[in-house]
Amino acid sequence: MADEPLVLGIETSCDETGVGIVRGTTLLADAVASSVNDHARFGGVVPEIASRAHLEAMVPTIQRALDTAGVKASDLDGIAVTAGPGLAGALLVGVSAAKAYAWALDKPLYGVNHLASHICVDQLEHGRLPEPTMALLVSGGHSSLLLSGDITSDVRPLGATIDDAAGEAFDKVARVLGLGFPGGPVVDRMAREGDGRAIAFPRGLSSASDPAYDFSFSGLKTAVARWVEAKRRAGETVPVADVAASFQEAVTDVLTRKAVRACKDNDVDHLMIGGGVAANSRLREMAQQRCDKAGIVLRVPRPGLCTDNGAMVAALGAEMVWRNRAASSFDLSADSSLPVTETHVPARHGDFHAHAHEALK
Ligand code: KG4
Ligand code: ZN
Repeated sequence: MADEPLVLGIETSCDETGVGIVRGTTLLADAVASSVNDHARFGGVVPEIASRAHLEAMVPTIQRALDTAGVKASDLDGIAVTAGPGLAGALLVGVSAAKAYAWALDKPLYGVNHLASHICVDQLEHGRLPEPTMALLVSGGHSSLLLSGDITSDVRPLGATIDDAAGEAFDKVARVLGLGFPGGPVVDRMAREGDGRAIAFPRGLSSASDPAYDFSFSGLKTAVARWVEAKRRAGETVPVADVAASFQEAVTDVLTRKAVRACKDNDVDHLMIGGGVAANSRLREMAQQRCDKAGIVLRVPRPGLCTDNGAMVAALGAEMVWRNRAASSFDLSADSSLPVTETHVPARHGDFHAHAHEALK
C-alpha cells in the first residue's frame, strides 16, 4: 500500500551494522555489514572493535540499503534506530548516525528497543502480529518469554534466564569443543551428524517447584565442559557431534516446553520465536512439532531475519509511525540496559520547552 510509512532502520547494538528499509510490513532492503570475523580470534565480541567497525560501515551500509530499495532518503517518513539494550559504545554510533540523518533530512527520529524489534521483524514475513502473541526471544544476550500486545507499547516479560543467555551457552560450548566463534551456527551444523539422545545433559529449572518461565543454561554449560574434560582426561576421543547434538537437544527441549506452557497458561495461541538462536534448525523443528500438538500457530522469521539486522528496527519504526507514536527528541541517548517494557524512547512531554528554558536562564 502506497500510504504505508517508508522507514529506514539502523541497528548497531552488537557486532552487526544493519540498515533496513521497509514500507509498512514490506521489506525493501536489508543491508548488513558484520565485524564478526574481527572478533573470532578473541572468542567473543570486543566492544571497542565493534564500535569502530560500525563507524566505518555506517555510511556505505546506509547507501547500499537506499540503492537496493530504490528510494531516495528524502522520501523517508522516519528514521528508526536501536536505542538499547546492547553495547553502549556500539549503540552510540547508530544513535548518532540516526540523529545526523534525521536532522539533515528533517525527518522524525524513533529510538526503539532491540528486543521488541526482534519480535516485530516477523511482520515482514508473516504479516501483522496477532494480539496477543507469545514471544520466545533467544539471542546471545537474552533469553526471555514475553507476552506482547500492541508491539509499539505493550511487551510484558513473563520470565528470563537467570544466568547465561541461550546463545551464550551455544558460544561457550562451541569453545569447549574447539569449534570457533560464533558457536550457534557451527554447533547447529555439527549436531546434524550426531545423536541428540547420546548424552543426558541437565534441563535447568525444569522441576515442578522451579519458576515456570525462567531459564538457566549455566549448569548445562558446565555439565558439557565437565563431560568433555573427563573424556579428554581419560584419553578418549570426544564424540563432538553427539555432544553438540545432546547439548542442543537440552536447550531446545527446555525452551520449547516452557514457551508452549506459557502459551497454554495465558490462553495465547500464537507463538513467535526471535533472536539469533531462533535460526537454530533443531529449535525450529521441535517448536513446530510441539506447537502443532498443542494447537498453537508458530511464527519464526527466516534465519537471516532472526540474527541482528536493520530490517527489524525499520519494521518497528514503521509500526511506530503507522500507530502515530510520539517520535524521540534529538537528545535521545543510547541506553545499554533499556528495559524490554520500553518499546521505544519517546520525547518526554515538554522536553523541548524545558531545554529552551534552561538555555534562556
Ligand atoms: O540476536 P543475535 O544476532 O545477537 C544478539 O542480540 O545477541 O544473536 C546472536 C547469537 C549468538 O550467540 C549465536 O551463536 C546465536 O545467536 N546463533 C545461533 C544460531 N545462529 C546464531 N544459535 C544456535 N543455532 C544457530 N543456528
Ligand atoms: Zn539481537
